[in-house]
Amino acid sequence: PVPLVIDTDTAQDDCVALLVGLLDPAADLRAITMVAGNVGFERQVHNAFLTLNAAGRLGEVPVHLGCRRPLMRPWVSAENVHGDGVGGLSMDAGDQAPESEHAVDALVRLAAERPGELSVVAIGPLTNIAAAALKDPGFARNVRALYVMGGSNNGRGNITAAAEFNFYVDPEAAKAVFAAGFAITVVPWDPLTLRRAVFGRETLAHIAALRTPLADFFTRVCAATLEFDRGVGIDGTTHPDSLTAALLLHPELVRAAGRYHVDVETSGELTRGYSAMSWGVHGLAANATVVEDVDADGFRRYLAALLSNPVAPS
Ligand code: BDR
Ligand code: CA
Repeated sequence: PVPLVIDTDTAQDDCVALLVGLLDPAADLRAITMVAGNVGFERQVHNAFLTLNAAGRLGEVPVHLGCRRPLMRPWVSAENVHGDGVGGLSMDAGDQAPESEHAVDALVRLAAERPGELSVVAIGPLTNIAAAALKDPGFARNVRALYVMGGSNNGRGNITAAAEFNFYVDPEAAKAVFAAGFAITVVPWDPLTLRRAVFGRETLAHIAALRTPLADFFTRVCAATLEFDRGVGIDGTTHPDSLTAALLLHPELVRAAGRYHVDVETSGELTRGYSAMSWGVHGLAANATVVEDVDADGFRRYLAALLSNPVAPS
């Protein structure tokens, strides 16, 4: 199994990505680290524990609290999209306590304990990852692979015309991460999440019909974004974070990828958080692999199979 940490702003698809890390036998999830993003910080922590309970794994994976705001700016939420992040689910979150060690210290320590072995799946703003790289100059080298959900490969954003949420919230952190020397794979919002791997009515009905506690959990936590997405003309749910985790564990789901020089706009009037993805012609050295196409049917089948797992909350 792949040793990994998931760095998350836990709401909706972040919960599903945690299920991937918690239930896929190909994953050895060493820790969950929390970063400010989608919804209130304490709510995100609660949602992470709810997800651990849904996966029947409470008490087995440490949860570390990280940066509660971006490096240089006030926190921006996506509560208008996510609500409480779990569709009003009132399941017991159990009594696992967060670790006393800060998320940034945990990331640095876990990577240094096994240089070249630990992978990190970053599915929120990149504040913790940037802080870890600042704290330990060896961190980027010690991480085997950093999978980032963020940016957009053709300028179509989801929070502004130019920017995807994770990069928009902490553009300085995103910029620092792309300059830090990580082996990065980027899973952008568009075209992958927005066009290729949407879960339409048929897939959602198939998952609901599984009738496992996990499928019920999925349907419930995705309800708020489904409503939001339908309101903006996307007929289904979007799964950027769980896709990112799945691609680390199952690279055969990647259909096309290119080497790009990725940089992030920090000062534009209309373009804060815009991800400039330059290919060879601009003469810039590549610093990331950008996923360009995926086996979307394979991903939908993978997630449905994961959710058919009969585990139940305690
Ligand atoms: C990203 O922002 C959040 O809404 C999702 O969790 C995902 O990580 C998409 O822009
Ligand atoms: Ca996220």
